Amino acid sequence: MEFPVTRMRRLRKNSQIRDILRETKLSAEDLIYPIFIKEELKKGQVESIDTMPGEKRYSLEDMVDEAKILEDKGLKSILLFGVPRQKDEVGSSAYDPQGIVQKSIKILKEETDLVVMSDVCLCQYTTQGHCGILENEEIVNDETLEYLSQIALTHAEAGADVVAPSDMMDGRVESIREILDVNGFDDVLIMSYAAKYASAFYAPFRDAVCSAPCFGDRKTYQMDPSNSQEAIREAELDLIEGADILMVKPALPYLDIIKKIKDEFKVPTAAYNVSGEYSMLKAGIEAGYLSEDSIWEALLSIKRAGADLIITHFAGDFLQKL
Ligand code: PBG
Ligand code: ZN
Repeated sequence: MEFPVTRMRRLRKNSQIRDILRETKLSAEDLIYPIFIKEELKKGQVESIDTMPGEKRYSLEDMVDEAKILEDKGLKSILLFGVPRQKDEVGSSAYDPQGIVQKSIKILKEETDLVVMSDVCLCQYTTQGHCGILENEEIVNDETLEYLSQIALTHAEAGADVVAPSDMMDGRVESIREILDVNGFDDVLIMSYAAKYASAFYAPFRDAVCSAPCFGDRKTYQMDPSNSQEAIREAELDLIEGADILMVKPALPYLDIIKKIKDEFKVPTAAYNVSGEYSMLKAGIEAGYLSEDSIWEALLSIKRAGADLIITHFAGDFLQKL
């Protein structure tokens, strides 16, 4: 049937009709809020982040208060990033059972019902700022796995529901799954940053957690933005190694990758709406170039592409509007 019998505008006639025909809907359950906890800060101390308007680095206690406020507004899950007091060559504060993330996990599990997820990586914790262990100017893969596994184990011991390795070393999902299982944590999920690109959109995050590499870049471990078949291989390997949730990162410039991975594997898929995506829209809104509706539209596009979960700094803004 064609025009004039078929009239697509009938489907958009008024808001009630549009409401019942809407295909993609965003809800609080879809969102994961990434939060920064800085070990050095004392209760009552909160730092704003210059490159991420509206976002903060919290002390342990203030982080819990913020998490509770968001939980009251409907937030279901949170992803923790630590900013340690001390860094060294092997990132030992990352696998210290008394480390800032381990403490944060523990207190959140005690005081909230949130699903607690933790970033597993070395870059905030090493003096060289890379996601792996350095030997002779090279990030060495297999040695790094032992450190990552140890970090994941201490997070599980602290009570993490989900560990999320963001380093992009080969074989890390397998070695994390193994150490978790051997230690009785077979119920802890792994959300793997399966297709993580070497992206310019991470710049504000590196400022937020002081994790910029001291030399070089992350291109020997993060993916080339030109590649999509490689993303499928990365995702497939992570699944074989035992990943429960696959993640694509960044989100908006990689919607095609989200769709491909979701269509191909049909497993829970997350997308990381990264710091640069956040700051870009925030700056546009603050300057008056864009309205706040752009936030909703951006998040919606990520879900429409196939993401079941969206890690986003906009979680607070979104929940406020609901
Ligand atoms: C590092 C890490 C990065 C992000 C999360 N974990 C950045 C990087 O690879 O340098 C980016 C998050 C964001 O930009 O919001 N393991
Ligand atoms: Zn890292």
